[in-house]
Amino acid sequence: MKKYKVAVIPGDGIGPEVLAEGKKVLTAVAEMANFEVEYDDYPWGCEYYLKTGEMMPENALDILKDVDAIYLGAVGYPGVPDNISLGGLLLKLRKGFDQYINLRPVKLLKGAPCPLTGVGIEDIDMVVVRENSEGEYANVGCRLYPDSPQEMALQTSVFSRKGTERVIRYAYELAKKEGKTLTSISKGNALGYSMVFWDQIFKEVGQEYPEVKTSTLLVDAASMFFVKDPKRFQIVVASNLFGDILTDLGAAIAGGMGLAAGANLNPEGKYPSMFEPIHGSAPDIAGQMISNPLASIWSIAQMLDHWGMNDWGQEIIDAIETLLVEKKTLTPDLGGTAKTDEIGEAIIEILKR
Ligand code: NAD
Ligand code: IPM
Ligand code: MN
Repeated sequence: MKKYKVAVIPGDGIGPEVLAEGKKVLTAVAEMANFEVEYDDYPWGCEYYLKTGEMMPENALDILKDVDAIYLGAVGYPGVPDNISLGGLLLKLRKGFDQYINLRPVKLLKGAPCPLTGVGIEDIDMVVVRENSEGEYANVGCRLYPDSPQEMALQTSVFSRKGTERVIRYAYELAKKEGKTLTSISKGNALGYSMVFWDQIFKEVGQEYPEVKTSTLLVDAASMFFVKDPKRFQIVVASNLFGDILTDLGAAIAGGMGLAAGANLNPEGKYPSMFEPIHGSAPDIAGQMISNPLASIWSIAQMLDHWGMNDWGQEIIDAIETLLVEKKTLTPDLGGTAKTDEIGEAIIEILKR
């Protein structure tokens, strides 16, 4: 029987609550689909930092390098500066394992709440392909003349040809494979170096994909259209920061943060890929068992897709949809009264029907 090794990093806040449900679902799918999963849990995160001075051990990448997937909850908690907690774990893994594609579906399922009027499930069905290794997140910069009137901070974006081309090419390939349109998100009117370069590469790579219908939108206008006319988007490609911001907006129109999943992919498979909900550690609700684990469960569907079990990935999404339609077992963010740890069981029950 094929065995998959999954490294689990529950992290902080609601991370452990939501991951426990995803693990239940993956374990149940493994039983039904006849494969084995071996979990290794790593207690890394803000508590670990307060004890050891590091978010994860120095050799963490070495420890994780051979697993079939990394399953991550959320990172960050009051008491540890966010740039330290995220820079020392999540961003280190994304960059260290060259997970340069961040695949974030923005899909309104039947039964999910949508704050937009006159919008149906057929109108919100896109995939955001977010650059995940450089751009605005390169973290190149400096602070000068601290505590003086000349004090300053520099933060430079890095858009390499390799980095820009590969994410844009991935998005074109996806659009071609799925017969969908591709929208590039830009800001070339103000960012005269990075985004003009981005636009140039989007056009260059596009020469190889004459069959893909494309458009380019400035990020401010794109934000407006996410709300006013989301059906114009099918595949969307965006830089690291723009993709980050647009996908929280995407979550808001497609059922909320509790339903938004993301896959950090190293498409070549040289390094492990990582699956996570896109939300954070939600300190405002942590510990009450009212967090919604459906995003984490959806990211298990992405893990199964990544392993080539797309049918099972779809089964999970269908089960989430059934749960939403039936409205019997939902967490408070979706108008229910269920606890976090009732959701995994409910999904498994639907899967087994
Ligand atoms: P957040 O996503 O944690 O929370 C935003 C809001 O959404 C909160 O009101 C929260 O209660 C709600 N929410 C989020 N997930 C939910 C869920 N599953 N069910 C129900 N409600 C949910 O964003 P934030 O408050 O800006 O950040 C909190 C911390 O998380 C910060 O330290 C931040 O840096 C970190 N963060 C981590 C990740 C990650 O690890 N991938 C992602 C985003 C933010
Ligand atoms: C996300 C998060 C991270 C990001 C933060 C926590 C660094 O917001 O995964 O969307 O900006 O990528
Ligand atoms: Mn984000």
